[in-house]
Amino acid sequence: MNDLLPGEIEIWQHVEALARELFGRFGYGEVRTPMVEDTALFVRSVGEETDIVGKEMYTFEDKGGRSLSLRPEGTAPAARAYIEHSVINQEPITRWFYMGPMFRYERMKTGRYRQFYQIGAEAYGAKEAAQDAELMDMVVQFLEALELKDVSLNLNSLGDEACRPAYHTKLVEYLRSKRESLCADCQRRLETNPLRVLDCKNEGCQAIAAAGPNVLEFLCEPCRAHFDDLKRKLTALGIKFVENPRMVRGLDYYTRTVFEVIASHPALGTASTVCGGGRYDKMMKGLGGPDVPAVGFAIGLDRLVLLLKESGRKFTSSPDLFVAVADEGSQTDALTLASRLRREGLRVDFDTRGGSLKSQMKRADKSGARFTLVLGEAERTSGQAKLKPMAGGEPIPVALDDVAKTLRAQPAATPAGPA
Ligand code: HAM
Repeated sequence: MNDLLPGEIEIWQHVEALARELFGRFGYGEVRTPMVEDTALFVRSVGEETDIVGKEMYTFEDKGGRSLSLRPEGTAPAARAYIEHSVINQEPITRWFYMGPMFRYERMKTGRYRQFYQIGAEAYGAKEAAQDAELMDMVVQFLEALELKDVSLNLNSLGDEACRPAYHTKLVEYLRSKRESLCADCQRRLETNPLRVLDCKNEGCQAIAAAGPNVLEFLCEPCRAHFDDLKRKLTALGIKFVENPRMVRGLDYYTRTVFEVIASHPALGTASTVCGGGRYDKMMKGLGGPDVPAVGFAIGLDRLVLLLKESGRKFTSSPDLFVAVADEGSQTDALTLASRLRREGLRVDFDTRGGSLKSQMKRADKSGARFTLVLGEAERTSGQAKLKPMAGGEPIPVALDDVAKTLRAQPAATPAGPA
């Protein structure tokens, strides 16, 4: 679990602000659900045999004897909220997004944490491939806006209750023939939930899975048509994808479409999946809610931030102005001036300790402020001061009443007024 401090937090804020703005353009409204839920919610949706539920949840009993879990993901809590608030009665299509911490007791490594952050989105009410395509378009536009390169969209279909059983049978048959070579966990999964063998992290199991039956060859006609329609729509949207029949995702609730965005960058090591999602048309009903189809995704915010840190782009913003004090008698006026300029929308730094002008100028330099204004008795009496450009150049004379206006008139000064 990580602490996030200024210097890095600006990257997080940048990504979060972009998500809010861009997802808003697609009609998604923000939801915030509690960090803890009934354990049963995740058992019934994500699935008892998944690593997430079986091994990685922070589960505890509360004082009322209820089994609660810190949320390991956001899809089930959002569905619970959708059911609880009878959202289906309000509108036929609902588009939600969320961002916040999730918790999984995973083995720690770069890009894999026990408290990590997701930005997720869920669209309820449309079973059509157009909804899947629209959602993926939003992911692609989001990653493009972050200028992330070398990412690839992997796509698969897991079929539905009509065609998956045949694939299931074939897979079990095949895996049974390889039983001796599977890890102990997979030998158990083979009996309880064979699809999970396909996302086992053990290399031997991965090689066996790769040589097994191909799920796409088992799709029934409606699932095949949905998948083909989706691919056509992605192509029309100019979205490149790779068909990957081995990708099953680590959660049980998916039907038909599943997808992942993989970023190949050494900064992520093996934690290269920056986004995962898919369709889950049966989950809502399985949780006792209405029969509502849904599709969604979640982006791993920690991993995006790792990539953005590597990009060398600057996300912090420096002060517009450093107000320095020439003599002790001017400190209150300087404090008042700084206060007024902040009210007028400027980012202003000011050394509340006072001290020598030399030490204040050092601090001004370090702060990265664009200009410094020294306030002393002369400036207070005349009402006139100078804006000293820290990058060099001639000082600009300014009336103390006009500092904000003059600063804004400088090229690349903070353009906006107070929010
Ligand atoms: P997931 O694949 O389990 O899917 O997680 C989505 C993303 O969260 C991953 O691709 C990864 O970037 C990030 N992530 C997962 N675990 C960790 C971790 N321990 N440390 C850092 N990042 C991590 C879901 O959670 C589904 N709820 C996605 C979804 C939404 N499907 C439909 N709607």
